Amino acid sequence: MTQGKSLKTLIVQYTPRNERSNTKKILDAFIGEIKNSNIEKLDLAKDVPDLFLEDNLDAYIHRDYLGETISAEQKNSLAKMDRMTEQLKSADIVVVAYPMNNFSMPAAVKAWFDSVMLKGKTWDAKNGSYMGLMNGKKALTVVSAGGNYENGPMASWEHALSLTNLEFKFMGYSDIRGILAGGMNGEESIKLSNLDKSIKQAKSIAQEWYHKNN
Ligand SMILES: Cc1cc2nc3c(=O)[nH]c(=O)nc-3n(C[C@H](O)[C@H](O)[C@H](O)COP(=O)(O)O)c2cc1C
Repeated sequence: MTQGKSLKTLIVQYTPRNERSNTKKILDAFIGEIKNSNIEKLDLAKDVPDLFLEDNLDAYIHRDYLGETISAEQKNSLAKMDRMTEQLKSADIVVVAYPMNNFSMPAAVKAWFDSVMLKGKTWDAKNGSYMGLMNGKKALTVVSAGGNYENGPMASWEHALSLTNLEFKFMGYSDIRGILAGGMNGEESIKLSNLDKSIKQAKSIAQEWYHKNN
């Protein structure tokens, strides 16, 4: 996809049902419209992010909150998080795609956010206030869900797209978009119509981002 331009798009996906995945269908529609950009992919079902546990959490606090020099072993405990963070920082546009799991994002996706939302790297805190460090960049989230959360009594159960949007806002992204394809486990006609609407939305966002000013 490289055409001599330095624009970079990072696709972060958790779609372990592969070709049967509703989420992947929407994501692929977006990818199909990408122009003049390098594309890098991170498959969270294969390259699973680390969780913060005793050693790496301690190393993170000492390095990034207390500003201390940490040992080679401590650095090593943060290596995967650092790699994923650098990868995100190198991208102008990030697309995160996943199905809703238990009203939120799948654990691997949450672990990715925890891995890349490192103090001093994608956000910072100074004089008691927080600031995002990813200004000028664009983020899109694609979620598919069995139920419907657009309105009605289930709207307040939705913690997938709303959480992702908040994470990107906290990191300072300038243009944050989201697609939530609901009704994937309901009536076939509703599923197909919602899928079709989401695919059109994905194409339209990609056309706006890649086909204009390029
Ligand atoms: C483990 C698991 C948890 C799920 N939790 C929810 C949920 O809380 N709410 C919902 O609406 N759908 C839920 N679903 C349904 C999926 O979000 C839905 O089928 C989605 O479209 C699957 O995406 P995929 O086709 O990309 O795999 C769940 C599915 C699985 C497998």
